[in-house]
Amino acid sequence: LRSRFVLGIETSCDETGAAVLDETGAIWGESLHSQKKTHLDAGGIIPTVAQLLHRENISRVVQEALDRSGIEPSELTAVATTVKPGLALSLGVGLDFSLKFVRLHEKPFIPIHHMEAHALTVRMLHPVDFPFLVLLVSGGHSLLALAKGIDEFLLLGQTLDVAAGDTLDKIARRLSLRNHPECSTLSGGQAIELLAKEGDRLAFHFKSPMGQLYDCNFSFAGLRNQVTMAINKKEREEGVEKGQLLSCVKDIAAASQHTVASHIAKRTHRAILFCKSKGLLPQHNPTLVVSGGVASNEYIRQTLKIVTDAAGLHLLCPPTKFCTDNGVMIAWNGIERLKQRKGIMSYTEEVNYEPK
Ligand code: KG4
Ligand code: ZN
Repeated sequence: LRSRFVLGIETSCDETGAAVLDETGAIWGESLHSQKKTHLDAGGIIPTVAQLLHRENISRVVQEALDRSGIEPSELTAVATTVKPGLALSLGVGLDFSLKFVRLHEKPFIPIHHMEAHALTVRMLHPVDFPFLVLLVSGGHSLLALAKGIDEFLLLGQTLDVAAGDTLDKIARRLSLRNHPECSTLSGGQAIELLAKEGDRLAFHFKSPMGQLYDCNFSFAGLRNQVTMAINKKEREEGVEKGQLLSCVKDIAAASQHTVASHIAKRTHRAILFCKSKGLLPQHNPTLVVSGGVASNEYIRQTLKIVTDAAGLHLLCPPTKFCTDNGVMIAWNGIERLKQRKGIMSYTEEVNYEPK
């Protein structure tokens, strides 16, 4: 008996990804084109540029994933594609491509919610049963949710302004870390993690946001302001041009990283307490799953480990490769939906999605 195969396609932000998976979660073929360098050079994502790059790469990326898998389009059981949330122009490229593809090959289509895919990827690697707690921290999102089923999520908190990764990226840019010899090819968050290793986090004190608010939401805009003010002050004191600070860059990196870690840990702790008080977590092996680009930060992981150890939760952080955007997580969500026969559409149906 041949397994069922799903082709997953992701274009919601700045990665063009495709992958073919079978029901067991085995990856038969995958391909990923990242636009991150282009956007890093430009100082941020320009949606029309992202769209253009997705258009340039989507056919090749999908073909590569299929070729590597050795699976013909006719052998696919379904095609799963991110339809929201994300940048409308980027999502449109993946959706248009997928709809043409499923009509051409007469295959079922499975629309995928990008965040749900992030939350469920862990089940491809570990046998984690519902319900479990999920923390997603990346360049575009910061949220805490209780995963109750493959399409059932209780949102416990989310960022009220910007995402954790975006904040680290902006702080890194303000410090001109790209000009730092060790950091030229790193994302903002990676650069801060690297420099923070040699910094003194106590040299600066940034207030952890929202200490007085007893909920599970996040806020990072205030931290960015505090850090910017501290940098302005230091630059004035040292009489250097904007972005030319040398002396305490590592200390600022360490203090910023610490504040982000501590804010994330405190909100996660609140979410755990809330779930426990309502009996929402299982007695046996309650688990916190952490995903998103920021989740690859060792300091943040260790801070979270302190929280989960104290609360008696198991902490699962999938490898970085599976924490960031790719076609694999979309294909896996397709598999989960296929197994439960949820949200599967015929190629003849109209698909119309709002990006949010
Ligand atoms: O999930 P991801 O690859 O993509 C999107 O959000 O689209 O996350 C990227 C974000 C960036 O903001 C980056 O600075 C951050 O994750 N990031 C990190 C680390 N590696 C990536 N933040 C902190 N520490 C890291 N090691
Ligand atoms: Zn993502």
